[in-house]
Amino acid sequence: MSTIHIGGYRRLCGQIPIQGSKNGVLPMMAASVLSRDTTVLTNVPAIQDVFCMMGILKFMGCRCTLAGGELTISPADMNRTDLPEEQVRRMRSSIVLLGAMLGRFGEASTSYPGGCSIGKRPIDFHLNALRALGAEVQAEDCRILARATALKGAELTFPYPSVGATENALLAAVLAEGTTVIRGAAREPEIRELCLFLQAMGGKVEGGGTDTIVVEGQRSLHGCRFFVDGDRIVAGTYLIAAMAGRGEVELSGVNPGQLSAVLRTLEETGAQIISTENGVALKMKGRPKAISVETGPYPGFPTDLQSPLMALMCLASGDSLIRETVFEGRYETAAELCRLGARIRLTEGGALVRGVPFLTGGAAAARDLRGGAALVAAGLAAEGETTISDCFHIERGYEDICRDLRKAGADIRWLERDAKENEN
Ligand code: UD1
Repeated sequence: MSTIHIGGYRRLCGQIPIQGSKNGVLPMMAASVLSRDTTVLTNVPAIQDVFCMMGILKFMGCRCTLAGGELTISPADMNRTDLPEEQVRRMRSSIVLLGAMLGRFGEASTSYPGGCSIGKRPIDFHLNALRALGAEVQAEDCRILARATALKGAELTFPYPSVGATENALLAAVLAEGTTVIRGAAREPEIRELCLFLQAMGGKVEGGGTDTIVVEGQRSLHGCRFFVDGDRIVAGTYLIAAMAGRGEVELSGVNPGQLSAVLRTLEETGAQIISTENGVALKMKGRPKAISVETGPYPGFPTDLQSPLMALMCLASGDSLIRETVFEGRYETAAELCRLGARIRLTEGGALVRGVPFLTGGAAAARDLRGGAALVAAGLAAEGETTISDCFHIERGYEDICRDLRKAGADIRWLERDAKENEN
């Protein structure tokens, strides 16, 4: 049980600091096992996915502590190469541990990974990349077993710029013998950051953030201290929430350069945006203009902000078409938005959204992480009270969405959590 209650519409106005990036820190945590030394990551968000990855690393014998945004990982005493089934099923990005474990121990076994139910999410690119680097990979029923006596550099070409598969290939290649060239690599900022992190560990990696990454395998890596960037998706969510409520917010701790496609789209719908050195300021007057958007790999419009944008378009003047091209199942939130008065029709070409002047409060359920955040944005702009159930999805990626949005004046709280705090 995890429920958010929104008291009704309030114009958002204020400053919100942005937490560290979920998709940035998770592969770095996996990469930390590539050396025996201790690694310290700073600006780490206290979110369920980070706790889950810590649980996996602890199960395998790492010492991990998180305090005040500083995560210390000591992998010297790792004594297992099998990943714990229960946690792996809860989090898809656990799969990148496969590449790292192969690099360090030449062996890893895991069950199929979980994560949000947003489409098919196969892992064939991951497994094929590891095979090309010399690993023997058996994938049977629900288990994957990977072994390599010696990983060898290779030329890899991905048919689609998969973020996770690029990360897995990188983690396996940094300790492989010889040179690896990854073509068709994902260009997300999180990949660039992972490459910088690997360089800080002593890895030789060039081209992170472009579609061709070249890795010169090293004999060993060492520990390091590394600052995790602000979360561009959390930032995008809060900008959209402010727009839905015709508000004015200033976000700090996020790189506006990583939000280019998002900021462009939000400007097209009517927001006034100023990029600052360490963040972004947004002001919204009146109803958003309806626009049609298609998601795509970076630098395209991120699939992770598709549901929040759909929530915004529910309030637009006119019709918009939102087309998801990355995860085909990612329209589940449409039905939940309709419970709050939205008018959305799913067609073969995408979600057709007919803007309405106002949404009405009601009860809805988070279907996945970003879909849950989209419902929060909708609820904040709706007339009347809204309750959103199954918000454990939101807690996977947002440190405390209620705390953050209250900073801008929102009437929003966690039902169970706040009730417990009042008891104590
Ligand atoms: C990562 C992000 C997620 C984001 C997504 C796309 C993390 C922890 N998660 O997920 O928030 O929404 O990138 O930006 O960083 N595919 C295959 N075979 C594979 C791998 C992927 O067909 O082996 C397909 C997927 O089904 C999907 C597309 O490629 O259609 C993109 O997936 P991918 O980039 O791998 O997403 P994730 O790494 O899972």
